[in-house]
Amino acid sequence: MKLLIASVPMFFEVKFSMAATRSALVLFGLVIGALTAFGQDETPQVTFNKDVAPILYQHCVVCHHPNDIAPMSLMSYKEARPWAAAIREAVVRRVMPPWHADPHVGEFRNNPRLTDQDIHTIDAWAKGGAKEGDPKDLPVAPSFHDGWHIKPDLVLTIPEQVVKAGNQDDYEYIYVPTHFTEDKWIQAAEVLPGDRRVVHHATVSVISADEAPKLIESHAGVQKMDKYHFRTGKVNHMKPDAPVYDDGCSVSPDQEIHDPTSGGINHVPAIYLPGHLAEVRPPGYALKIAAGSYLQFQVHYSNRLGKDVTDRTSIGLVFAKGPVTHQVAQYEIWNNWFEIPPNDGNHKVTSCYTLPKDVMVVAYTAHMHFRGKSMTTEAIYPDGRHEVLFNVPKYDFRWQETYFLKHQFLMPKGTKLVTTAYFDNSANNGLNPDPSKTIRWGEPSTEEMMGFWLAYADVTPVDENAAKSDKSPDRELSAKK
Ligand code: HEC
Repeated sequence: MKLLIASVPMFFEVKFSMAATRSALVLFGLVIGALTAFGQDETPQVTFNKDVAPILYQHCVVCHHPNDIAPMSLMSYKEARPWAAAIREAVVRRVMPPWHADPHVGEFRNNPRLTDQDIHTIDAWAKGGAKEGDPKDLPVAPSFHDGWHIKPDLVLTIPEQVVKAGNQDDYEYIYVPTHFTEDKWIQAAEVLPGDRRVVHHATVSVISADEAPKLIESHAGVQKMDKYHFRTGKVNHMKPDAPVYDDGCSVSPDQEIHDPTSGGINHVPAIYLPGHLAEVRPPGYALKIAAGSYLQFQVHYSNRLGKDVTDRTSIGLVFAKGPVTHQVAQYEIWNNWFEIPPNDGNHKVTSCYTLPKDVMVVAYTAHMHFRGKSMTTEAIYPDGRHEVLFNVPKYDFRWQETYFLKHQFLMPKGTKLVTTAYFDNSANNGLNPDPSKTIRWGEPSTEEMMGFWLAYADVTPVDENAAKSDKSPDRELSAKK
């Protein structure tokens, strides 16, 4: 006790004298700084090596490195220097890094947006002559692994597919056995297209060992269509005269389609969509691939190159290294019954889905095609409270990110998820393939979809013992390399 009392004043003394020294130094610095500024009229020099490279390494080079999705590498001064003005422009206008969720709604783990300070630094660098600076200041550059944005423990690859010249739209279903002899927990995953020029999207879903043979057979034959759908080649469409429900919240037994909103559960380790990077789940959250499962690769091919192309698309899996507490899956909520009139620049479509169970909310994805304009999802909780969860004010087909929440939260059973989408089928939409067409649901990108996907975890914790799956590396399965 005595010792403690005795030590208190000493502590204060030390603190005080340190603070005093520091403020003296700061004062000194200010005086010197003012003198320098006064004398030479020069602000401290912003350089690539000291100030800009750390920002690019953290926020940009994930796409801007050789052979990735961006058109140029920004890894070195030599590569970045010619782009200085364009870089400044892109960050000041907040076009780069790409991010389409409203920054005022929700907090996301994978939000890459720059701080105002970072933008200021890049602005000052470009305006100040884009100087290189001292090589000693350059941080170590991040490294990348053969096109992956994660470091996969295992890579599974589809057999070679020949995508014929003139193939405009095909959905191929390819089944790859995992040969897992025990359940595996996937913490992160990424789909890597074999040839980005022809792979429009690729969704990888887990299919159980029982289900797989039936599915393989049904996709090998011609798929059966109901009276509302038709098929051309290997893609499905809604018939022009199928019933129309732009308001997916209008539920009534008198309607031909009683409930136009559908919501299915899917187990998707990863998906490839334009501008979409790896799925990295929060620690403790993982997707299960049960022993013996298959991975279904649904690959949307479209070849406009005028020659045959071969593709081998892969999925890279990162196994959970720590204990898994929450098993992740995904609700895919759709309204497929809309009709978008020709030349309509602001066509509203809604969906309403009531959660059948308690879930922990993990991530959101908005999915539309070229005419998608905006999407907002609001939760109406069982206690009547409303909350906007997610808002993509300017949807862009070329950037379909999944937005992972910083803080997972419990959403109770009975919560109604109301999603409102707008479509732009006018000539003002630069991506619109044809404003003169009436548009219904369809698998080709030139037709439309209206989907809100909610990645969630079961509330009941996973048995921690079941989660230790990372010890048996099935690396010989890796078909690539
Ligand atoms: C998720 C991937 C990704 C990230 C992260 C990213 N970019 Fe890009 N960037 C792209 C792609 C793809 C393009 C080309 C398509 C486009 O312009 O939309 C591009 C285009 C650009 C362009 C325009 C090039 C031109 O032709 O005029 C600039 C400049 C740029 N990026 C700078 C940056 C900077 C600076 C950052 C970080 C602050 C960044 N990007 C982060 C993918 C990315």
